[in-house]
Amino acid sequence: GTVVLAYSGGLDTSCILVWLKEQGYDVIAYLANIGQDEDFEAARKKSESLGAKKVFIEDLRKEFVEDFIWPSVQANAVYEDRYLLGTAIARPCIARRQVEIARKEGAQFVSHGATGKGNDQIRFELSCYALYPEVKIIAPWRIPEFYNRFKGRTDLMEYAQKHGIPVPVTPRAPWSMDANLMHISYESGMLENPKSHAPADLYLMTKNPEDSPNIPDVLEIEFKNGLYCCCCLLASDRLNFQIICLFLKISLGKHGVGRIDIVENRFIGMKSRGIYETPGGTILLTAHVDIETFTMDKEVRRIKQGLGIKFSELVYNGFWYSPECDFVRHCIAKSQENVEGKVQLSVFKGQVYILGRESPKSLYNEELVSMDVQGDYDPCDASGFIRINAVRLALLQTKGTSN
Ligand code: ARG
Ligand code: SIN
Repeated sequence: GTVVLAYSGGLDTSCILVWLKEQGYDVIAYLANIGQDEDFEAARKKSESLGAKKVFIEDLRKEFVEDFIWPSVQANAVYEDRYLLGTAIARPCIARRQVEIARKEGAQFVSHGATGKGNDQIRFELSCYALYPEVKIIAPWRIPEFYNRFKGRTDLMEYAQKHGIPVPVTPRAPWSMDANLMHISYESGMLENPKSHAPADLYLMTKNPEDSPNIPDVLEIEFKNGLYCCCCLLASDRLNFQIICLFLKISLGKHGVGRIDIVENRFIGMKSRGIYETPGGTILLTAHVDIETFTMDKEVRRIKQGLGIKFSELVYNGFWYSPECDFVRHCIAKSQENVEGKVQLSVFKGQVYILGRESPKSLYNEELVSMDVQGDYDPCDASGFIRINAVRLALLQTKGTSN
């Protein structure tokens, strides 16, 4: 049979490629470009030299931004109050194209290099089954013949040497990384001890706030339909897609924004320690929450906030392609129709500071809220409003059941 392997260019998936061939499969190598730092042409040559029958290098950056990052920004998606889901949203994006290739090439099998203990295996496979129900999945890290043979990195290196797989020349970082244009995550290895501090040179996307510039960058971010449509250093031009990528990835890393070090709950039932840097995503989230609160009805916002948490859990757990997630995304998209306007902010020493906002769809009524203007509001009405709200509280007090 033919198998489409999600190939990263690294040691693990190179060994998997050769191992799959050994098992008698024709292997199609598939490498998604979602903005990670990678020499894609070198990876193409490498997979060809390892005997891949065909190689697909797919530039998915635009669809990653438009179909996965934007809905997450609209949702204010955050898992367990802190994690912006940079890896979780990349998986359904990668799997979607993988399945397209498998169908087009008449491949019955897909394969990936995710371990048997993590979230990624679930995200890849649920996405594949949802989009290609007949597909057969080969997860080598869950196959005894594979994991008993490759018990550690030394086994992989040995196998690589024997099979002409180029072994990495630079010593490997003592943790595992996953990178795309929105974020980099670091976990396992020396980070498994939740008490051990990350070394300063771990962070590749953001500067240490202690060493960041002493002058803030002032930005204006404009939203339309809850989507970010332009970002400019004040007074500069509208930015195109390439620059949005740059914005998400690099430009604001220099201020050290968006670093977190957390212990999170994996879907599989264990806690794991992870470090993340999401500079652009953190800035977008802060700005979006601000313009949303400015333009959205209070009660709609409350319901929408709950849906955002639901969305985050669904995405974290791998259910991007599910009826419930589709439903939630539609509701959230509907809530964004009037989320429009500009937010001015400054980025400085690891922080995002909102400076001001303006919107043609604002629900803010300066006259209504003003301490200096009476407007169309009678303060006497507040007395009744408060007394009615106090009925319940006073009753509890007389019954002696209150706090
Ligand atoms: N714990 C994070 C998540 O579940 C990051 C996973 C990192 N994945 C990886 N292959 N290194 O989304
Ligand atoms: C992995 O296990 O492959 C990475 C970590 C995760 O998926 O949670």
